[in-house]
Amino acid sequence: MTQELTSPSPAPQAPGTGRGPGWWRDAVIYQVYVRSFADSDGDGIGDLRGARERLPYLKDLGVDAVWLTPFYASPQADGGYDVADYRAVDPLFGTLQDADDLIRTAHDLGLRVIVDIVPNHTSDRHPWFQDPALARQRYIFRPGKGESGELPPNDWESVFGGPAWARTDRGDWYLHLFAPEQPDLNWDNPEVHTEFEAIMRFWLDLGVDGFRIDVAHGMIKAPGLPDIGHGAQAQLIGAQVLPFFDQDGVHAIHRAWRRLLDGYGDARGKQVIGVAEAWAPTAERLALYVRPDELHQAFNFQFLNAPWQADGLRSVIDASLAATASVGAPTTWVLSNHDVVRHTTRLGGSLARARAATLLMLALPGSAYLYQGEELGLPEVTDLPDEVRQDPAFFRGGRETGPAGPGTDTESAPDGVATAGGQDGFRDGCRVPLPWSGELPPYGFGPGGSWLPQPADWGGLTVAAQTGDPASTLELYRTALELRRRLPGLGDGPMSWAPAPDGVLAFTRPGLLCTVNTLGHDVGLPAPGTPLLSSAPVTVDDATARLPGDSCTWWAI
Ligand code: GLC
Repeated sequence: MTQELTSPSPAPQAPGTGRGPGWWRDAVIYQVYVRSFADSDGDGIGDLRGARERLPYLKDLGVDAVWLTPFYASPQADGGYDVADYRAVDPLFGTLQDADDLIRTAHDLGLRVIVDIVPNHTSDRHPWFQDPALARQRYIFRPGKGESGELPPNDWESVFGGPAWARTDRGDWYLHLFAPEQPDLNWDNPEVHTEFEAIMRFWLDLGVDGFRIDVAHGMIKAPGLPDIGHGAQAQLIGAQVLPFFDQDGVHAIHRAWRRLLDGYGDARGKQVIGVAEAWAPTAERLALYVRPDELHQAFNFQFLNAPWQADGLRSVIDASLAATASVGAPTTWVLSNHDVVRHTTRLGGSLARARAATLLMLALPGSAYLYQGEELGLPEVTDLPDEVRQDPAFFRGGRETGPAGPGTDTESAPDGVATAGGQDGFRDGCRVPLPWSGELPPYGFGPGGSWLPQPADWGGLTVAAQTGDPASTLELYRTALELRRRLPGLGDGPMSWAPAPDGVLAFTRPGLLCTVNTLGHDVGLPAPGTPLLSSAPVTVDDATARLPGDSCTWWAI
């Protein structure tokens, strides 16, 4: 039986604006992890000039926008998510002029630019934290427990492992949900609100088209900072509301930012967006972040964590679409990012599954984020020696999943992020610099080396090696993105499930049908139409289609 899904309706207009449906509703946005994308100066670390030089590649790939991870002044205790000056570019990555040039070049190419903003915490080298009097007002300080205050104020654990509190030499304690070098800001202080609004305006004035909001579920802590009562708390992230994550109070902040973004955009005739990195226990709670007066998008990590199994995928897709449709928002699909095991490896070390998962994602209604290198089918690098690792979680004996990762919800992720592909769950393996060309490291990444060693066998995976090869993953992405732009039925709009054998998903979009065979072997079914694009060679004989195992096919109907 064909089941009609509640299709995402057009975005409700924010009050007082004449905004159209919104470019972001079906945009494909490419994540540039700046330090690993392209290096222009030979120090082995990717930079803004390197990224700018490669923008034509992204234009040619067919994405609509680029998200740049933090390139701000930072001691790099957590890959730049420890910001010491939100208005300065770290010399590692270039200058403010380089940022300006990059934004202009992107716009000239028709690409939008989203930058990261990190509001939950700063670096401990931030001037506010360096000044003890200011720090007491703007961060979360508490006296310790125990006879002489020698015990942390409560039992909260850092996402990276160990207690979430560090003691200063003045004897009090400050909260750091991430590394000790990342003290949590006190969002009860209005000065913090004012400062972040000013930071947003600073980057908007430079021309950015939006913000990816880091730890968007984190700024507000439960009153009284209550104990949780047990350990292994990192595993609860995304599985339940915690006194430090997904508190209802964060929504007032997002509402204020939406007013700022709308006001700014309206005055200039453009739409600037906010995308939440928010870990919420259910699709319904995640949808709260994308209510009409809040942010525009929120990464769908439940899809990212779904097992490669037809029923599981279908129920995550249904729940996501229903939840976002209930607030009039599109769903924001994602399979990989800089915090999780690359999906080629996570889905059982199978490039076939990864390619199929991508075609599935790009056929679903809504927007999609791609993580640099997934278009090359890069696997996670699993054999990095300990001496080259930089993930702070590794040094803190940390958690088993990525730092912002989900709980180990074994029902939804039987071989979840933590263990997939025999991973240790630290995040350096997905951050190895990109291979662009040549047979040997650094594969055209830059004129020097690369800050993490690249595998010796990546010569066949470079952009140059894959370009023009119709069987390559790069050309699959290019074709899929080209079709997505060309076919009116893809992107935002309705979808309906169609009948399919066990282990296979089938759904229609206007003019198109998508089949996904999640089984490891061929499945035959009446050919639903003419194959347009497939992640693996599909055959049609006498009106019977044979779907290869672990494949996804788009059919013209
Ligand atoms: C987010 C980032 C992650 C970082 C953390 C702390 O989860 O994606 O890389 O470590 O926030 O800022």
